[in-house]
Amino acid sequence: MSITLSVIKADVGGYVGHSESHPDVLAKAGECLARAKKDGLLVDYHVTKCGDDLQLIMTHQQGEDNEKIHKLAWDTFVDCTQVAKKLKLHGAGQDLLSDAFSGNVRGMGPGVAEMEFEERVAETIIILMADKTSSGAWNMPLYKMFADPFNTIGLVIAPNMHSGFAFEVHDVKEHKKITFNTPEEIYDMLVFIGAPSRYMIKAVYHRETKNIAAVSSTQRLSLIAGRYIGKDDPVCIIRAQGEVPAVGEVLEPFSSPILVEGWMRGSHQGPLMPVSIPDSTPTRFDGPPRVVAVGFQLSGGMLIGPRDMFADKSYDLARHQANEMADLMRRHGPFEPHRLPLEEMEYTTMPEVAKKLEGRFTDL
Ligand code: F6R
Ligand code: MG
Ligand code: MG
Repeated sequence: MSITLSVIKADVGGYVGHSESHPDVLAKAGECLARAKKDGLLVDYHVTKCGDDLQLIMTHQQGEDNEKIHKLAWDTFVDCTQVAKKLKLHGAGQDLLSDAFSGNVRGMGPGVAEMEFEERVAETIIILMADKTSSGAWNMPLYKMFADPFNTIGLVIAPNMHSGFAFEVHDVKEHKKITFNTPEEIYDMLVFIGAPSRYMIKAVYHRETKNIAAVSSTQRLSLIAGRYIGKDDPVCIIRAQGEVPAVGEVLEPFSSPILVEGWMRGSHQGPLMPVSIPDSTPTRFDGPPRVVAVGFQLSGGMLIGPRDMFADKSYDLARHQANEMADLMRRHGPFEPHRLPLEEMEYTTMPEVAKKLEGRFTDL
């Protein structure tokens, strides 16, 4: 059975500040998607949140980039924005960059990850969602899952994974894409994906079967809008088990927190902390950045789950380490490398201040 899994997300208003989603907003989204399921447009759905981001997880048989599905998501965000406005939540409707829907939510603010596939006998799915960071945050975890044998032993000892994976990488500044075959092209690939603010892994495919294994959202809201309107707070869908990494291999990269762009005012480096859904409440200096993982088994498109994967105690040490890293970074205050380099900051006063002081700069 061919099924499409669409994860479409937007920040339609924060509670309190940018730290959390309001239950009434989630309830409204649930109402909208329940109606679509009753009408037969959706096979199934699950509404959840990561920090201030509303996450619509939907299964259907309309294929990727389908106008009806994207309109459903857009209309749901618009209805949820009405709820957010009524409650005077912070930044109500902040990710809806246009007043009118025009066929597809891509480029209009919401984040999108979609994949169509033939449902396997057992179809295990992990959906990663992050808050207070951008899409490049998935580069290192995806590399580890699908190309690093120190993370994924299956690459070495599982005959159905030994041929490796192909990575589709997008240059979000020049709007170009390239595919790298691993393991033989990892050195070339790392030249690019090691610069995650520009080069982002969009999708991963099994090299022999060509089956889709992972897909991420690669929107950069600031590039779309031409001004700061929030970090992208990305999502990523990953199929697990069998010819793709096991659940434990998919989640293992998050047991060693890394530094990612985002955090306060989208202008800092901070540790990506794996947390349960209830703990996705970035409150310290609006952070540190969070990642949640929900797991499902699919059954004829029905979402059996979710399991809140990072609720597991085995991530306690990672959370502790992330808090220590947060302290270390905060010690730098407004200095790099905590603060992002000038061209990557989402907030800046540089043009105004430089203009004001223009006449005071003299030659050395
Ligand atoms: C970062 C984020 C927050 C806000 C900050 C200022 O992604 O969402 O750190 O940037 O709270 O928010 P505004 O400008 O809405 O007052
Ligand atoms: Mg927000
Ligand atoms: Mg957010």
